[in-house]
This record gives sequence, structure tokens and C-alpha cells, in this order.
Amino acid sequence: MSRQRIVVLTGAGISAESGIRTFRDGDGLWEEHRIEDVATPQAWHADPMFVWRFYQARRRQMLEVEPNPAHEALADLAERHEELTLITQNVDDLHERAGNTSTIHMHGRLKTLRCERSGQTEVRMEEGDLKDEFLTCTCCAVAQRLRPDIVWFGEMPMHMEDIYAAVEECDTFLVVGSSGHVYPAAGLVNVANAAGAKTILVNLEAPVNADAFTEVHLGKAGEILPGVLKHLSEEDMQPE
Ligand code: APR
Repeated sequence: MSRQRIVVLTGAGISAESGIRTFRDGDGLWEEHRIEDVATPQAWHADPMFVWRFYQARRRQMLEVEPNPAHEALADLAERHEELTLITQNVDDLHERAGNTSTIHMHGRLKTLRCERSGQTEVRMEEGDLKDEFLTCTCCAVAQRLRPDIVWFGEMPMHMEDIYAAVEECDTFLVVGSSGHVYPAAGLVNVANAAGAKTILVNLEAPVNADAFTEVHLGKAGEILPGVLKHLSEEDMQPE
């Protein structure tokens, strides 16, 4: 078991080969919608039922997709590296289903819903939880409406203290499938560089922040990530 401290940050690109569409490829729309119409607090206040139905469709879709070889390669890596922190911008549960059970979700999760009054979250993935009608919480005396447990544009990402602590201490920082447009996630590579870490990128095409990485591998994550991780592990096993 290696003691090298590795931090991995994944984005929508890692789930693309599982059949979940990314946000910024092609037509710039997310599942036929402008991001600001479905993924902002303003959209939720203006038309909560529209936003609710959009996320209920995403939650139902999550049950139909499977982890791909990129998720599986990261689960294998976690078995070989005690000191691995996996951070994802994704709201799906494909890392967990591949075996990375302690994944940090900085932009929230689809499988949980959040009480609008107390802020408590509940896993709500039973058949009756996936319909188009609003759901109410089990935490308040007078049940309140639940909202998607998602970090929308203009809201604070989750777990940032833990994330910065891990990146500031890491030896290797690897980003997989992210366009580098959304901060603070896109700026973590600079934190890793400042910490003297090796910074590696695996992405279909060069993202806006590609220059910040010391090593760039372009291609589909499911096809090239297993090889990149194998190489990383072999390098780590070499004597100093
Ligand atoms: N393998 C690797 N990379 C891929 C693949 C693939 N099979 N398919 C697409 N990509 C790359 C694209 O080239 C793109 O650079 O993945 C990236 C996906 O970028 P975005 O769609 O912008 O996703 P992401 O960076 O995760 O978005 C960040 O924005 O809308 C918000 O909160 C949402 O978490 C999301 C955040």
C-alpha cells in the first residue's frame, strides 16, 4: 500500500461514457435547457415545479446508468492507495457504485433531498420518491417542501475546508473530465501547484485551464484513465 497522497477531482466528463450528458459540450445546453433556467436559486424561486421535474428526471436517469471503466479504475486506485481523496463535481452516484464510498460531492448529490426549512438532507430514492409531484420532509413538525440537494450557481460549494486541506497537502493532483470553467473547482490545480504537487489532467479536449497542468492526457476517460493510473502506481512503486 502506497503512502503517496493523491487527490482526484472529477467532472461531468467522467460520467459521459456512462450516458450522462456533460454541461458545456456541443450546443451549450444541459439536457435541452439553459443552465440558468434549471440550476440557479432564481430559477427555483420563479418556477419550482419546472426545476423539480427537471431534477426528478435526472434522479430517475441515474438509476438507468452504470459506472464505466474510468470510475472502476479510480475504485481500484483507492484499494492501492490509502491516502486517496476523491472529490467530484458530479451529482450522480457512479463513484460510490464503483466502490469509492467516501467520495466528496462538492456540488451536492441527486440521491439526497434537502428540507427547505431545516437544511437537513434525506436519501429519497424509493419508487414513490421519483415522481413529478413535490415531496415533503420527515424532519419538521409541519412537513416542509424538499428541494434538490444540489449546489446551484450562486450557492456555496460543500466541504471546501476538507477539500483545501487535502489539496494543500497532496503529492499528486489529478483532474478527470472537467472543462475548468467553474470555480472554485477550476482553481484547485493552482493550489496543488503551489503545494509542489505533480498535476495531471485527463480530458477529452484541452480545457481552458490546461496550461496549469504539468501533464496532460487527451482522450476519453474510460479509454485512457486506466493506463494513466497504472503508470502512476508503477512510478510510485519505484525506489526514490
Ligand atoms: N472523457 C474525458 N473527458 C470528457 C469526456 C470523456 N469521455 N467527455 C467529455 N469530456 C470533457 C469535455 O471535453 C469537457 O471539457 O469533460 C468536460 C466536461 O465539462 P463540463 O460539461 O463543463 O463539466 P464540469 O467541468 O464538470 O462542470 C462543472 O458546472 O454546471 C456546473 O455544477 C455543474 O459540476 C458542474 C460544473
